[in-house]
This record gives sequence, C-alpha cells and structure tokens, in this order.
Amino acid sequence: MSAYHTEIEELGSWQRELRAQFPIVTGHPDLAYLDAAATAQKPQPVLDAVRRYLTTSNANAGRGSYPWANATTALVEGARDRVKRFLGDPDPDGSAVHFTSGTTEGLRTVARDWLPGLLTDGDEIVVPFHDHRANLSPWLEAQELLARQGVGIRVRELPYQAGSGDYDPDALARIAGPRTRFVAVTHVHHVYGADMNVHRVRRVVGPDVPICLDAAQSVGHLPVSVADLDVDFVVFSGHKALALPGTGAVWARRRRGPDFRPGGWQGTPNTVGIASLVAALDWLDAAGTDRIERWTVALTSLLTDGLSRMEGTYEVLGCRTSLAAGSKVQRRRSLVTFRHRGIDAHDLGFILYSHGFMVRSDGHCQAGTGDKDGSVRVSLHVHNTPEEMERLLTALASLQ
Ligand SMILES: Cc1ncc(COP(=O)(O)O)c(C=O)c1O
Repeated sequence: MSAYHTEIEELGSWQRELRAQFPIVTGHPDLAYLDAAATAQKPQPVLDAVRRYLTTSNANAGRGSYPWANATTALVEGARDRVKRFLGDPDPDGSAVHFTSGTTEGLRTVARDWLPGLLTDGDEIVVPFHDHRANLSPWLEAQELLARQGVGIRVRELPYQAGSGDYDPDALARIAGPRTRFVAVTHVHHVYGADMNVHRVRRVVGPDVPICLDAAQSVGHLPVSVADLDVDFVVFSGHKALALPGTGAVWARRRRGPDFRPGGWQGTPNTVGIASLVAALDWLDAAGTDRIERWTVALTSLLTDGLSRMEGTYEVLGCRTSLAAGSKVQRRRSLVTFRHRGIDAHDLGFILYSHGFMVRSDGHCQAGTGDKDGSVRVSLHVHNTPEEMERLLTALASLQ
C-alpha cells in the first residue's frame, strides 16, 4: 500500500466528520467541487457565524457607541488578533493586520502604501513573473508610480527553476545585490501546486531584505507560521480559506523597512466578512491545518499517480519529481494542473462537468512569463474524497 493510501485510511473518519459540515457539498452528492483554489466552500459554522452576526449585532465598526456598534468594533479588533494567532505570530505587539477583499487588494496595498517609502533612486526589487498576476502587477504599478515621481527602480525577475517547480536560489544569489531592497514570493504556486521554498529565499537575500509572501494558496491548506517563515508580509484571501467572498488580510511585521500604514480613509470594513473570517480560522484551527495538508496532499498524490499512468494522454504541469507515488519530493500541495494532449482545455472542462466535476479550465491568471495556454486545474480542500479522485480518474481514462 502506498504512503498516500495509509494517510487516507488514517484520516478517513476525521475527514468524513468535516465533510459533513459543508452543506453545499453534501447537498449535491452527484457533483464534486474541485475548484477550491479559486474560492472555497464554507462549512456550517461559518454560515452560522454570518447569520448570527447579521441577526444579533450588525452595525458599523469604530463609529457608534451603542452596544451593536461596540460589539462590531470589538469583532474587527478581535479579528486582527485572531489572524495573528492563526499565523503563529510570536510578537503580536510588533505586527499589524489590515483587512482587504482578497490577496490582489492586499498585495496592491503593500505596493501602493508601503513599498514607495522603502525605495530610493537606483534600488531594485525582485518579484515573480511566473506566478499569479496579482503578485506581479502591483509591483510594476509601483515602479510606474515612482518613475512619475522621478525615482527609478529596477524590477528584477525572481528566477524560476522549471525542473523542480521552485524558485532558483543560485540564480537569485547572482542577481540579489546591495541595491536589492525587497522580494515578493509566492508560498504555493496556483498552477503547479509547488510549495515554494521560502526559507531558501530568505537565506539567499540575507536577514535585512523585507519579503512579502503571497499566501493565497497556503493559508487554510497547511500550517503557515510567520515565526518559521521569517517573512515581513503575509497576504491571503479569506474567501479561499473558507470565509465569505470579499475577505482577505495583510499581516505585516514592523521590523524591516517603514511601518505598514495603509493610506487614506478606509471607509466601512466588511464586518460580516470579518465575522466569517474569524469563524473560518476557528474552524480551520480546530480541524488542524496539518491534517488538512496531509489529507489534500494524499488526494493529490492519488490523482498524480493515476495521471502518470496515462502520460500518453495527459501532460501534468509543473514539478516532475512529485508525480511518482510515495516520492520523497512530494512538495505538490492541494492542486494539480494538466492538459489532454488532444482535447482543448475548455472543452475538457465542459466534458468533466458533464461527469459532475467542477474544475477550472483556462490560463489561470498567469503573470508575465507564465504558461498562459489553457489547462485544467483540479484544486482540493478538506471536503474532497478519494472516491471523487477515483471517479475523476475513471472519467479521464475514458477520454484516452
Ligand atoms: C497565488 C495567488 N495569488 C493571488 C490570487 C488572487 O486572489 P484574490 O482573487 O482573492 O484577490 C490568487 C487567486 O487565485 C492566487 O492563486
């Protein structure tokens, strides 16, 4: 029996209990939602928290002085502490949490309101051109903004190793120099599923360069510890971590560079979204992100193992080493992207839906130099099952 089968067996009853808490999933037994990387389904306690908030204390935050307004203000402030705790922040007094609508807005806020204060003429930043465009456009926009103010900065491409599916530390070492002031990285790649080795990036750039982590595909899927990662920003989408659409956060450490102070009048926060985020983080902590990671990685291995037996028909994108069952280099997280060698990705998406599978099939918002040709992405969360993977493999096999 392969390692992933053992994982599946060990975690089976734990997972069944959790799956039962997703009404949209249990309500549609003939469908399999395989698009968690785009947005995640919500467990009942998150739905309950939304209803409870809206039916007991809905008000604006930081404005009124009556009990509902006070409760909402306390909710928002408490949510900042909740995010810090979720991220294992060892020094909550030395960090800040800013709520956003998702990772895109979060990264843009860092680029617009913080980065310019760090940079002077001739400085360099290193950012990924091969990841999600949310983690490229904001840095290029910051470069343009600075140029209009007469500050010329150079944007370097974070080198990528196609073979391993990871950033290339040796190539990074060659371009990182005394003018390197900032590095943006991604934690888990949204197409290749590779868990990017952020520790190595820190080792290469040294202790003084701020690192901003796009954690859109890791928060909620695996333990994300800021103490362990030694990054300065963690930016994520609450809606991909089981909270409502329109939620997300920036966690910022006040250690390297200026303080993070999102500029301008902030307006009314997404209070109900923040209530859902607190409930989602509570739920994830209770479920155990370590076990969620083990479960989804096991299902991913089941799928890549099956796909590798159909190599003549399907090309799996990204790291080859994590394709083999039981590979020690299993750094592919909860998603797998592939192409049929004879069927267009959009058509394959439609065919798979006719078998009850909801997958993503397009170019996946790849940035600059990323592979933008269509492909099918299967992305998982804790509610997904080995039976769904087996059924999917059967459907894929029928198209050989
Ligand atoms: C790695 C990565 N970064 C950023 C984003 C953008 O997230 P959002 O749409 O929540 O802003 C995504 C969304 O798929 C993503 O996968």
